[in-house]
Amino acid sequence: MLAALADRETAVFSDRLNHASIVDGVRLSGAQVHRYRHLDLDQLEELLRSSSAERKLIVTDTIFSMDGDVAPLAELVELKNSYGALLVIDDAHGGGVFGRNGEGYAHELGLADEIELTIGTFSKAFGAYGAYVTASRALVDQLISSCRTLIYSTALPPSVVASVDAAIELVRVAGDRREALRKKSTHFRTRLAGLGFDTGASTTQIVPAIVGASERRSSWRGRSRSAVSWPSQSARRPSGGQARIRFSLLASHLDDDLELALEALEDVV
Ligand SMILES: Cc1ncc(COP(=O)(O)O)c(C=O)c1O
Repeated sequence: MLAALADRETAVFSDRLNHASIVDGVRLSGAQVHRYRHLDLDQLEELLRSSSAERKLIVTDTIFSMDGDVAPLAELVELKNSYGALLVIDDAHGGGVFGRNGEGYAHELGLADEIELTIGTFSKAFGAYGAYVTASRALVDQLISSCRTLIYSTALPPSVVASVDAAIELVRVAGDRREALRKKSTHFRTRLAGLGFDTGASTTQIVPAIVGASERRSSWRGRSRSAVSWPSQSARRPSGGQARIRFSLLASHLDDDLELALEALEDVV
């Protein structure tokens, strides 16, 4: 999608912690890339101001996949309006989880109409496979006729499309699950913090337990693994001191199981 929207004449402004798929999409487009410090609107504005590119595009995750913090969408809308840029959001972790009917994070904030293009996945809250783009009819038509990775790849099998279709109906009426997930996430985060873990700026269902040096993280995970099946992945950041165990909570996690995970963590602490 990014390769269809941006070219060598385009300046793309990308949050440093955007998902790898955005990094690769921008590379594929050949656009000039300006990476701004995570959530740093001042630096973004400085970069926008000093760019003489004719076409500008700001791209960001909505919910950051390793940190569980959120992009300041209202401010990004203001900036893109001031500098005549397009705003593209990756709502992989927002789709199904936020918005009254699970439409996503921009809907939650009442900003959906202000954002030129949203990409989301059917692989997370929708429990299926594939991805979606929402944009104006004109932009969607442009993508369908110019997006090479769409044109030159096999379409999703009908069985997958049928799963997605069914999932959309389920997600639409899953308000109770969204509420349950919110509560579980807040509780889990509070308990982790109570155990002395740094959960960063997470406010969502993605909750990191930042443990500092990678060696410590590996040994913690190893020591706890036998005790509990983790609702988590561990990750190593290239820069020092940011290794973490990353929890991605589900509405279907049982309170008892989360408690077991917390107890195992407590043992390790
Ligand atoms: C922000 C973000 N964008 C895109 C993706 C890719 O989603 P998929 O694996 O469904 O292609 C992910 C998956 O982790 C993600 O976190």
